[in-house]
Amino acid sequence: MKDMPKIEEIKRIEQQATQNLSKISDIDKIDEWRIQYMGRNGQLTKVLRGLGQLEVDDRRIVGATANQVKTSLENEMEKHQLKLENYKINQQIHNDQIDVTLPGRPTTQGNMHPITKTIREISEVFIAMGFSVEEGPEIELAKYNFDMLNIPDNHPAKDMWDTLWIDTPSSKNKHSMCLRTHTSPMQARIMESNDPPIRVLVPGKAFRYEATDATHEWHFHQIEGLAIDKGITFANLKGTLFEFAKRMFGDNRQVRFRCDFFPFVEPGVDMSIDCFKCEGDGCKICSETGWIEILGAGMVHPAVLANVGYDAAKYTGFAFGMGVERICMLKHGIEDIRLFYSNDLRFLKQF
Ligand code: FA5
Repeated sequence: MKDMPKIEEIKRIEQQATQNLSKISDIDKIDEWRIQYMGRNGQLTKVLRGLGQLEVDDRRIVGATANQVKTSLENEMEKHQLKLENYKINQQIHNDQIDVTLPGRPTTQGNMHPITKTIREISEVFIAMGFSVEEGPEIELAKYNFDMLNIPDNHPAKDMWDTLWIDTPSSKNKHSMCLRTHTSPMQARIMESNDPPIRVLVPGKAFRYEATDATHEWHFHQIEGLAIDKGITFANLKGTLFEFAKRMFGDNRQVRFRCDFFPFVEPGVDMSIDCFKCEGDGCKICSETGWIEILGAGMVHPAVLANVGYDAAKYTGFAFGMGVERICMLKHGIEDIRLFYSNDLRFLKQF
């Protein structure tokens, strides 16, 4: 090895660089140090650049030493940088610039939609009375939405609901599918595939081709109830619905039953609760009547029992269908049904 001086020079550069690095206390000065030794014109870079003038054997040894030193200096630089960063953070903590005792920033939390909550609340009341819960299809066959419910084709009762029909290849002459206009088709579906006794609750969406106003949406939720057994009477229906109203709205609300017509029940009724806004005096929300209708109900029509293969002489039963949005409005004093689906967070966050 002829070129010992080169090796010595590298060692001297290493020693000096290491010493200077340990003296740096300002993290921003580290880059200046790097440039001084390993930058384009840095002291170590110059040695490496001069390797070409050495003899082959020397070049190999000097080159290897210089590269080793370069790697070692780079490692030292990283370690020192980390040390200074940690020191800076510790200083900030020490000077109270970072308050580690501060509580974390709160994240926005989602909550359940008021209609989902109301469905659950109503379901709990009926589950406590021995009802089970089922769901059914939103796209329904006309057979279940109308025919099985004693609403034959061309019967004026079919116009009771403005139906959103679904076009199918075979619907040119006659529509066979629709968005269900109520949850009542599930009465037929459940009876068709179960024997009595039956006590079931069916929450779900209903759709109608109607203009919206403060108490009407084109898409809303209903909860259907159905109870079939030997010896069920109208008194059972009334008792069940009174109990529901009491548990849902408290003892002080007024409940009103009136005769109503639905082709699938006989006799049929509707039930209203006194208006939450005017408490019965009459206002815009209750169309000046003092009452808000929340459900239709009645004793299941013998023709419907026969359609599903039940013996109407042996079994009787009642059914009801309630509007979930209307019940939620009554409970919370909400003046416009359209608020539920306007996606206004100021409204939704209140629940
Ligand atoms: C029916 O839908 C019958 N299927 C109810 C029924 C079931 C009767 C079982 C007998 C036996 P009706 O169209 O009245 O009936 O609707 C029932 C309830 O749904 C109403 O009392 C009301 O609370 C709610 N409702 C009806 N239309 C709308 C609408 N456009 N927007 C919001 N809620 C509505």
